[in-house]
Amino acid sequence: MVGTQIRFGDGASYELLMGEWSRNAGADFLDWLKPPPGLAWLDVGCGSGAFSGLVVERCAPLSLLGIDPSEGQLNFARGRGLGPEATFKTGDAMQIDLPDNSVDVAIAALVLHFMPEPLRGVSEMARIVRPGGFVAAYTWDIEGGGFPYEAMHRAMLAMDFETPSPPHPEAGNADEMHRLWTDAGLENIRQRQISVSRTFRDFDHYWQVGVLSPRLAAVLGDLAPDQLALLKDTTRSLVPEPVVLRASANAISGRVRG
Ligand SMILES: C[S@@+](CC[C@H](N)C(=O)[O-])C[C@H]1O[C@@H](n2cnc3c(N)ncnc32)[C@H](O)[C@@H]1O
Repeated sequence: MVGTQIRFGDGASYELLMGEWSRNAGADFLDWLKPPPGLAWLDVGCGSGAFSGLVVERCAPLSLLGIDPSEGQLNFARGRGLGPEATFKTGDAMQIDLPDNSVDVAIAALVLHFMPEPLRGVSEMARIVRPGGFVAAYTWDIEGGGFPYEAMHRAMLAMDFETPSPPHPEAGNADEMHRLWTDAGLENIRQRQISVSRTFRDFDHYWQVGVLSPRLAAVLGDLAPDQLALLKDTTRSLVPEPVVLRASANAISGRVRG
């Protein structure tokens, strides 16, 4: 891992890069979770609000609070106009600014691997959910090759360029997620693998979107034009035509005791 942190500063770029992937995975996740209507939700690491929007559209929440450390992401989420039940605030999964037992469900969508201490994050979610409520998450299976822009990362590796990694890629493994939920004291744990696809118009469309990835942007700016051209060609050789790409995530849900 190189010493650069991955930062999500710009909600509009994130939306182009991940919005469609995020909604595809989120829709599958909600079909599986089947939450009843009228719940108070906390969306931890809500980002640009892609998953928050699905909850509002599909789950008739009593309320939804999205928290994220990135103001750029939160501004995009606020601009969605999701309605009075949805609010977005600066916040950190490591220390959630809510009292114990204050929501029905806490969810972390594509966030666990970015948490500085995933067990602390899951334990915080368990603390603020009422007894009988649930704590759930889904995260790209990064170590299993499930990240949506895996081909670009493979091309970088083939050329010996290092890209920054999220702090805890292992938090996307199904076994590790089970351990986190167990150690946080959650019960009735259920798990599922999510598989999604996204169609790009052609390779150039894929490339234009993929270079918005904060993991890649940290490195691409330093490449000489010939290195960049070679990276593009190497990536092209790893991407199918037509450009329909698959990604996979692991999902988990558990109940708070009581
Ligand atoms: C891959 S995005 C996921 C966004 C959104 N949940 C979705 O499904 O599209 C990861 C988000 O986690 C946020 N994040 C990073 N560290 C965090 C932390 N300690 N607490 C809460 N969110 C964090 C980032 O700012 C970013 O918006």
